[in-house]
Order: sequence, then structure tokens, then C-alpha cells
Amino acid sequence: MSTPLKRANEFVKKNIYKVNNQYRHTYHAMSQLNWSNDPNGLIWFNDKFHLFYQHNPYEANWGPMHWGHSTTKDFVKWKNEPIALAPDSPYDETLGAFSGTAIEKDGMLYLMYTSVTDHQQTQSIAYSKDGINFVKESNNPVITTSMNPPGVSANDIRDPSVFFHNGTYYVFLGTHIDGLGQIVLYKSVDLKKFEYVGPLMNISNPNERLFFQLRGVFECPDFCMVDNQQVLIASPQNLPKDGTQHENIQGNIYMLGNLNFETAKWDYHTLREIDSGFDFYAPQTAKLPDGRTIMIAWMQMWERTMPTQAHGWAGSYTLPRELSVKNNVLYQTPVREIANYRHNHVNYENITIHDGTLKNFADIYGNTLELELMIDVTAADQVGIELFRGIQNTTKVYFDKATSTVILDRSQSGIFIAGRELNNKTRSALVDIKNNILKLRIFLDVSSVEVFINDGEQTLTALVYPDPNDLGVGFYVNGGEATIISLEKYDIIVSQK
Ligand code: FRU
Repeated sequence: MSTPLKRANEFVKKNIYKVNNQYRHTYHAMSQLNWSNDPNGLIWFNDKFHLFYQHNPYEANWGPMHWGHSTTKDFVKWKNEPIALAPDSPYDETLGAFSGTAIEKDGMLYLMYTSVTDHQQTQSIAYSKDGINFVKESNNPVITTSMNPPGVSANDIRDPSVFFHNGTYYVFLGTHIDGLGQIVLYKSVDLKKFEYVGPLMNISNPNERLFFQLRGVFECPDFCMVDNQQVLIASPQNLPKDGTQHENIQGNIYMLGNLNFETAKWDYHTLREIDSGFDFYAPQTAKLPDGRTIMIAWMQMWERTMPTQAHGWAGSYTLPRELSVKNNVLYQTPVREIANYRHNHVNYENITIHDGTLKNFADIYGNTLELELMIDVTAADQVGIELFRGIQNTTKVYFDKATSTVILDRSQSGIFIAGRELNNKTRSALVDIKNNILKLRIFLDVSSVEVFINDGEQTLTALVYPDPNDLGVGFYVNGGEATIISLEKYDIIVSQK
């Protein structure tokens, strides 16, 4: 008998050929066709790493949610697996299986997700022995609307993040209570029966109330331990802009603090944006067997024009990033396995760039590159790099001394991308320049730019849609001069199979 899951998998096979590859990445995870958003259920299970994701296999627009599925052994080469979950049960058959996370219990893989009908969001579970074929629990939904705390709308409580602590499964859900963004905690000893613990955010401080007056949901919470510190990641809607932070209407933050698991009280001392670029949302983390915590985000943004929809696909995922915490800052570095795919190394040292000139190197060009630079910025007003440069287009990443920011400018990158934000040209990150040296590590993958600043203290992620032959890379200064102390270039070459 054909089920919604079989039908979805057959549809994918029959329709892959329709996808136009022009802007598809070569070393980033992506669905095979049509729509995908949030990464879900990141986990190392059965000797490989699993990435599930929000997926509408039928159209390049958001629609009833399935869980797409890819696996990898090294975080760079991805294998497409059959769709894992489809809308097929009374509690999820209209809008489907929204975001959630994975956890291993007794050798089985459990997925906890938000099951959505047109009038309510509840939380459900599916499990698998092989990590590929899933069965939905017979007692779904395991968290029902009757278990919601007062003030929660039945349509806005979602995205369970499961965290195992002291023999108990704790579940963080994103919601809003009385108009204030909120994360609420539940617990269970067996992943079958759950009980409510309480809200995390104590919004008695008037400044905080203002900050969390979201008129939206604190989406996709993710609670993890990094370097023995508790980290709470979330994607709040409508955070107020704060300097260079939270320029996107759909934001991303991390908090460092201490959670009381008995009361749900969350005392945090640090709250910052994770990535200040245009296209970074709904990040999730996973612990790897070797102890690393890695994070992957949706490399797209809500309420923006998406040029690839006309090409039969939309949505992809950031490079997996290794997390660490130093001096109360969450650092992100590209997953180390990417270095196995470096080719054609080129290196330059002590190159001085003068005001108003664009410096090119005959052996530095391309659109699937890694660039690593150390620049002495002492004597320059602005110093930067032009990427994806062609006759008409260029994408700029530059340091501006007056504001001490690194700015990513996609106003001339190619196809114009409109969004609801006022500023659709630039995103920037305030940087702390030590000894006048700026360090940048930049990854290009056909239509993406990821900038890691000063060893990953800040990042800027953005999509761009240049012409296929916009392969130029150039270095420039506006006002004064700058010295590139060192410059490394690698082609990143991956044959996805
Ligand atoms: C965030 C989000 C989640 C939800 C999912 C639906 O991008 O809105 O809150 O579970 O996408 O696809």
C-alpha cells in the first residue's frame, strides 16, 4: 500500500532531474530537490552522523513538513537517505513534522518533533533501530496541549530539544507567554510520560522584558555543554536590533549560564548573536564521540526572495562548525575534516596593498575556495577582499577602522535579494582587533560565503548569486595602506556521491 512516506520518496526519485544545478553547493549539505529549512535531529548514531531537516519534497516552497535525511562520516561528503518522517498520523497529517532533535536510548535512535495540525502544536516521538526507518510512537503526542503552561498559545509551542542529565530526559520548547519570548522545560524518565517543570526566562527585569517582547516565538532552542559550560542556543523572532547585532528579523543567539534543572530557572550572564550574517537560522548542535560539539544552521532566511526556487530547490546548511567557549565567548571553527579536501595550495606573504588599487594574484580565483588571511590593519581606513568578482558583480568583505567592524556587502553580488529588513545590503560584526592584526578565514561554495573572524570569535554567513564566471578575487584598501602578512588559498574539491 502506498503511504505518504513512500509517495514522498518516490516523488523525489522521479523529480530530481528537474533541478537546475547552477547555484548548488559542492561541499555543503542540501536536500536533493525542492524545499528545506531547519536542520533537525543531529546525532552520531550507528557509526555515522545523521542530519535530518525540515523538508517539503513536493515544492520549492514551505509546505507540509517531512523530515529529510542525509548522513556523513566526515561532515563534508554527504549521502542522501530516504525521507524519515512524513505527515501521516492524525496529530501531524495537516502541517506535518516540525523541528526537533534526536537522542539515543537503549541502542535505538529516538526523534522528538513537533506534530502539527491546523489548530495545534504538540510533541511526538518516532524511533528506529537502524537509523533509517522510523516508527511513530503509539502514545503520540507525548506532550499534549493540556500540558501547556497558562498563557501559551496551542499554535506556538514547538521545536523540542532533548538533553539527558542525571538519568532524566529534559525537553526545551520554544514559545511565547503573554507576548514575551519564552523557553519552557519538561522532563521524563522514559521518553514516554512527560511533566512540566517551568519557564527558563525570568522576565522581571524591565530591560529584559523589552528585549524579549518578541511578538513571536523563541524558536529552536538547543541546550548543550561546551567546554564544561552550559550553552543555550535559540532563534528568537523579532529581537530588537542592538548595534551590529540582530539585524535579521529572525535572529540567532547563544546564552551562557547556569540552569537549575529542578526549577527551570536559567541564570545567564552572557547573551550574544552567534552569526551576524544574512543567512543563518535555527542552528542545532550535536556531541560527537570524540567529544567535539558541532553546530549546523539553516543557510537561508525567512521572508527573503530565494532565487533558487525557480531552479527547483531552496535551502541548504552551513559548514558544520566546532564549538568552544573561551572567556565567555562562543567560538566557531569550520569542522577540521574540511582540510582533507584542500587542493592547489597557494601562499603569499608580506604583500602591501595601496590605496585605490585592486591587487589580484594569477593563481587565486574560483568559487569553491578557502582563503586564510592575516592582515595588518594599522594604516588603512578600510581594507578588504572582493569575492565572486566579474565584470558587473562583486561581493565585498572588509574591515572598517572607524567602526571597528568587518562588513559583508552583497549589494552588488548578483541577483538582488529582497527581505523585510531595511538594510538588505550589508551585515557586520564588531571586532576586537588585537595588535592591529585581523584574521579571516573565508569559505566560498558557488553561492555561499562564510567568514570566520579572529579564530571564529565572530562569523558572517551569506548567500550570493553571481554569474557563473564571476570567479575573481581581489584585495583592496580605501585610505592609507595595509599589509597582508600571510595569505593562503586552497580549492575545496569534493565529489559528492
Ligand atoms: C523555524 C521554524 C520552526 C518550525 C519549523 C517549521 O525555522 O519555524 O519553529 O518548527 O521552522 O518548518
